[in-house]
Amino acid sequence: MSTPAVAADIRRVGVVGCGLMGAGIAEVCARAGLDVVVHEVSPEAAEAGRTRIAASLDRGVRRGKLSGAERDAALHRVRVVTDLGGLADRDLVVEAATEDEKVKVALFAELDRIVTCENALLASNTSSLPIMKLGMATARPHQVIGVSSTRSRCWTWSRSCRHC
Ligand SMILES: NC(=O)c1ccc[n+]([C@@H]2O[C@H](COP(=O)([O-])OP(=O)(O)OC[C@H]3O[C@@H](n4cnc5c(N)ncnc54)[C@H](O)[C@@H]3O)[C@@H](O)[C@H]2O)c1
Repeated sequence: MSTPAVAADIRRVGVVGCGLMGAGIAEVCARAGLDVVVHEVSPEAAEAGRTRIAASLDRGVRRGKLSGAERDAALHRVRVVTDLGGLADRDLVVEAATEDEKVKVALFAELDRIVTCENALLASNTSSLPIMKLGMATARPHQVIGVSSTRSRCWTWSRSCRHC
């Protein structure tokens, strides 16, 4: 059994879905200096997602939270793709697609097939589905976790495997 990645090992992050949550997750990771690849379902959705991230970074500049140079550097670290295969080399993938069990189970099965790093963490931002269900769609349930933001902007997490 491989050992899941720890924070210090995580340099390359993937995000699935670039709606409200996915765009925010991608932005936070890029601002933290991580290389980010975001997957969306179509070129139109990819463009909308990139615009959402850029608009949020612009707001940050206007409010004095980051400089123009920091905004440009963060945006430079984000690529939005329409091929899930673009997430193959990621250390951490955070799924933030539409809240639909069939969609998420299929995505985790596909991510398990695609992501090559054997100790990569596969995370879901689901607000209602049991993480166990998503973990069982993969051959690495001990590396599947739930991440959920709270009102205090912390992240809580849960594992899909009770034995780990
Ligand atoms: N507290 C929290 O952590 C919290 C809060 C709100 C939402 N959520 C969860 O976050 C997830 C996303 O919510 P949201 O509000 O950002 O939704 P959203 O509708 O704004 O965005 C979902 C995005 O996923 C994309 N998508 C759909 N199917 C996809 C697929 N197969 N591959 C890639 N992208 C796909 C859609 O095109 C859309 O852009 C949901 O699971 C939701 O329940 C969690």
